[in-house]
Amino acid sequence: MFARPTALVLLALLPVACGSPKIDVPVAEQTGAQLFISQGCVQCHAKDGSGSFLGLGPDLRDKGAFWDAGSLAEYLLDPAAFAAKTERLGAKEMPAYDMLDLAARTRIGEHVLTIMNGN
Ligand code: HEC
Repeated sequence: MFARPTALVLLALLPVACGSPKIDVPVAEQTGAQLFISQGCVQCHAKDGSGSFLGLGPDLRDKGAFWDAGSLAEYLLDPAAFAAKTERLGAKEMPAYDMLDLAARTRIGEHVLTIMNGN
């Protein structure tokens, strides 16, 4: 059997291995909060934006000063291109969400802002 810490790490990786949780609403009709879950943001940033204890994604809660819904929608389209324009980003890899249209990315951006602003 696995030693206890190993089993815990495997349990923590399970949602990542199994892909995004299912939400029974088409992407076009999902709210920003639903998209944040269905698109897997939660796997690296956690539902409350506090980040992953495995270090997959940073804490988002203290980043509100840098963003608005429009810049977040642009960032999600091509994080590497966006990061190239700033010193602050680019240390790690954030996946691109170019499969989502502007409306969906903007809804996610609005939801991320509520997390960043502590709502
Ligand atoms: C595979 C893990 C992973 C997933 C999935 C992921 N992110 Fe990230 N995210 C990262 C990493 C790593 C960074 C740091 C990127 C950098 O430093 O350039 C990041 C950075 C960010 C930032 C910038 C934080 C700052 O410093 O201002 C935002 C905003 C963000 N992610 C939102 C999202 C949203 C919204 C989703 C879902 C649509 C998402 N992320 C999905 C890993 C992930």
